[in-house]
Amino acid sequence: MKLLTIAMAKGRVADEAIQLIERTGLYFPDYHNESRKLLFTDDRKHIKLIFVKAVDVPTYVEKGAADIGLVGKDVLMEDPKEVYELMDLGIGKCKLSVAGFVGAEITESSYLSVASKYPNVAKAYFEEMNIRTDIIKLNGSVELAPLIGMADVIVDIVETGTTLKENGLTVLADIVDISVKLIVNKASYAIKTDEIQQFMKHLYAGLEVRI
Ligand code: PRP
Repeated sequence: MKLLTIAMAKGRVADEAIQLIERTGLYFPDYHNESRKLLFTDDRKHIKLIFVKAVDVPTYVEKGAADIGLVGKDVLMEDPKEVYELMDLGIGKCKLSVAGFVGAEITESSYLSVASKYPNVAKAYFEEMNIRTDIIKLNGSVELAPLIGMADVIVDIVETGTTLKENGLTVLADIVDISVKLIVNKASYAIKTDEIQQFMKHLYAGLEVRI
């Protein structure tokens, strides 16, 4: 059996993903969610897990540094890569939404300044709606932008809605549903077809048990 390298980001999604992977019978004895280690191997040496920044997961997979990546659809939409997207893991569910102050007007005649970690998605969304924008790329704390007058609206991930609520903002429009996808390096899929298909089959079985 050829070793599969899987890239993902640390955090809540990783905990859920690892639970799912361990349901396939694999076990990572060293893994715990507070560990600072970045590389884990299961006890039977079938899977090597590497932890990278979420936005870098598709790059590791495209370049073949990882065979498989587990990453949010938001990341894939913002910066598409040459990889196969083969499975929805149904975890990390949230929405990519436009948010702002209650009653903020978004009309074709408006010229909006938009703060976002997702400038490409935001630009495409407003272009589609014939709304002219000035897109401001931020790397976090995006909800702050309308509060200090830097942007009219934001385009960001909304999961529980708590961050918006605590900052006096609301969802103005939903753009797309997001969840974690399984992506695969194209060459790996040709070379390690059996291992990858077997791994996905086990993941599907784990997902069904969970449902
Ligand atoms: C994400 C997102 C929102 C928040 C939404 O931020 O950008 O700010 O989570 O979650 P909620 O609807 O459950 O409140 P993240 O925690 O990644 O931090 P960041 O703002 O530093 O990117």
